[in-house]
Amino acid sequence: MKIYTPKGSAPVHALDGVDLSVRQGTVRALLGPNGAGKTTMVKVLTTLIKPDAGQATIDGIDVVRDAHRIRPIIGVSGQYAAVDENLTGLENLDMVGRLYHLGPKATRRRAAELIESFELTEAQNRPVKGFSGGMRRRIDLAGAIFSRPRVLFLDEPTTGLDPRSRLGMWDVITGLVGEGTTVFLTTQYLEEADRLADDISVIDGGKLIAEGTADELKARIGGQQIELTLVDADDRDVAAQVLQHHGASDVREDSDGRSLSVAVREGPLALELVLRELNSVGIRLHDAGMRRPTLDDVFLKLTGHMASEEADGDEVDGGKSKKSRQDKAQKEKTQKEKTQKAGVP
Ligand SMILES: Nc1ncnc2c1ncn2[C@@H]1O[C@H](COP(=O)(O)OP(=O)(O)OP(=O)(O)O)[C@@H](O)[C@H]1O
Ligand SMILES: [Mg+2]
Repeated sequence: MKIYTPKGSAPVHALDGVDLSVRQGTVRALLGPNGAGKTTMVKVLTTLIKPDAGQATIDGIDVVRDAHRIRPIIGVSGQYAAVDENLTGLENLDMVGRLYHLGPKATRRRAAELIESFELTEAQNRPVKGFSGGMRRRIDLAGAIFSRPRVLFLDEPTTGLDPRSRLGMWDVITGLVGEGTTVFLTTQYLEEADRLADDISVIDGGKLIAEGTADELKARIGGQQIELTLVDADDRDVAAQVLQHHGASDVREDSDGRSLSVAVREGPLALELVLRELNSVGIRLHDAGMRRPTLDDVFLKLTGHMASEEADGDEVDGGKSKKSRQDKAQKEKTQKEKTQKAGVP
């Protein structure tokens, strides 16, 4: 349980009775929309903040009572890369090595090894402020695994990355898991959880709302989706009936009145039947296709609302300014967290 009590506004139950465990050597993804409590959970588990109630252990060590014993065995790459903008990539890693008291020789060797495996050789001597988002995340992750932690926490490791950098990051994470690292990662992407995680916990409003393997969750939400865009919005009701007939969930209609989707069990076959039937009644389509369920589909099914709808009813603009305030506060905290990360009091 973690309750924030911001000045002048109501308390926020950021974590409320979340109970989960991660098996050694596996990956657990914490999937949830903005404000679900993901970062709060990571911060509690990595000893950066204290919970208001409840208990958490890593390797049998209590994260609150024995925080100093937790820090040496974990690595954390926060939601916003904790790198020093003015130092080069290599200097950043050098600093991490010194914070861990690794000694100059071992630090140099480890830094060179990481620079190479994270494909940062060319950029290593450039200040990080000139790095792209993807490079920043990689240098941050290199810092997080510098001391070869047994347990690694990654808070939205690929948010904001382009598809190529995302694939690269997935490879890096898969490689670490192959070496025996236990990973706890947060994400807003079902696809990412599907690709990387053995087990997935879905949270919303600080509460655990579902848990299982990617296949189990997908089975619950009906696997693949058929998505149609009509030429004529007047065809909507008939098209919805056809979709409903072949679908494994309620038909979803988007607000534009021309886009419809439904979950199906046997994707390609159902799509073929739907298209044939729509054609036979003369309904014309702009677009038709199959897609995998998104976080929105999971949330709609599990909670009845979309992941993108803020549970507390914040206006979009309010969300944005909240986000920029958080960004600023985060920058100020970065230096402090970096020190804590390395287990330095
Ligand atoms: N320091 C804080 N003070 C007050 N409220 C906070 C603080 N940090 C987080 N919160 C609130 O707690 C809730 C959970 O926030 P948290 O950052 O854990 O969410 P998240 O799942 O990481 O979201 P995102 O996807 O946007 O990173 C939100 O309502 C947030 O506004
Ligand atoms: Mg977060």
